Amino acid sequence: MQTQTEQQTGTDWLAVLDEESRGLVAAVDAQPDGRRILEGTLDRDGYIHYLVQTYHYARWSTPILAEAGHRLNRLGRHPELAALLIQKGEEERGHDRWLLSDLKNLGWSEAQVEAAERSPAVDAYTGWNFFTSRSGVPTAVLGTAYALEYLSQTRAGVWAERLKAVAAIPNIHKSVTFLRSHGALDGDHVAEMKRILGPLTDPEDQEAILFSARVARAVYPRIFREGGASSHPLAR
Ligand SMILES: [Fe+2]
Ligand SMILES: [Fe+2]
Repeated sequence: MQTQTEQQTGTDWLAVLDEESRGLVAAVDAQPDGRRILEGTLDRDGYIHYLVQTYHYARWSTPILAEAGHRLNRLGRHPELAALLIQKGEEERGHDRWLLSDLKNLGWSEAQVEAAERSPAVDAYTGWNFFTSRSGVPTAVLGTAYALEYLSQTRAGVWAERLKAVAAIPNIHKSVTFLRSHGALDGDHVAEMKRILGPLTDPEDQEAILFSARVARAVYPRIFREGGASSHPLAR
């Protein structure tokens, strides 16, 4: 009988990566606020919480991706994946500004966003990615990137459309730039990653990428409020 690890590092490891990513989407949908944002009924505080927490990890995306790419180059491994990481770092540049702009249109200043408490999920997500980027297996960063872009291609555009259609949040039509832009871009980004990851046969890298996708699946859904609207508001 094959062990789980042998199965995962076989030729269809990309199918396992997709399975992890679908698991992430299901886990997000199962959160109370994840269900509400999909229905478009999420309230203002819940949406602000989501955007603020997203800001606190998205602001680190460019350095995390770039450092992973440059370190991979220094290690002399997988130049095509190093180039992909550096490219993705550039793609993510400025996405934190979209979040600040959406939040400003919801009445939250940059100073309030900066002062807001980060959730344990955000600390875990950024901590894990900084670790793999600077000190672990650097290709692992592609696992969290893939899972989140898969979520984004599946949900970001739909969330933006439904939030606008239900319009439960004042000024919502001016506050979905981050979601709308990712919905439009990330389908292509997932397809590109899949194409570039296709030839990767190194079991250590495959495992690191799958493990990181699993970390994203476990951690990311908890950036929403625990228990939905009944939870404590953010410190401001
Ligand atoms: Fe982004
Ligand atoms: Fe992307």
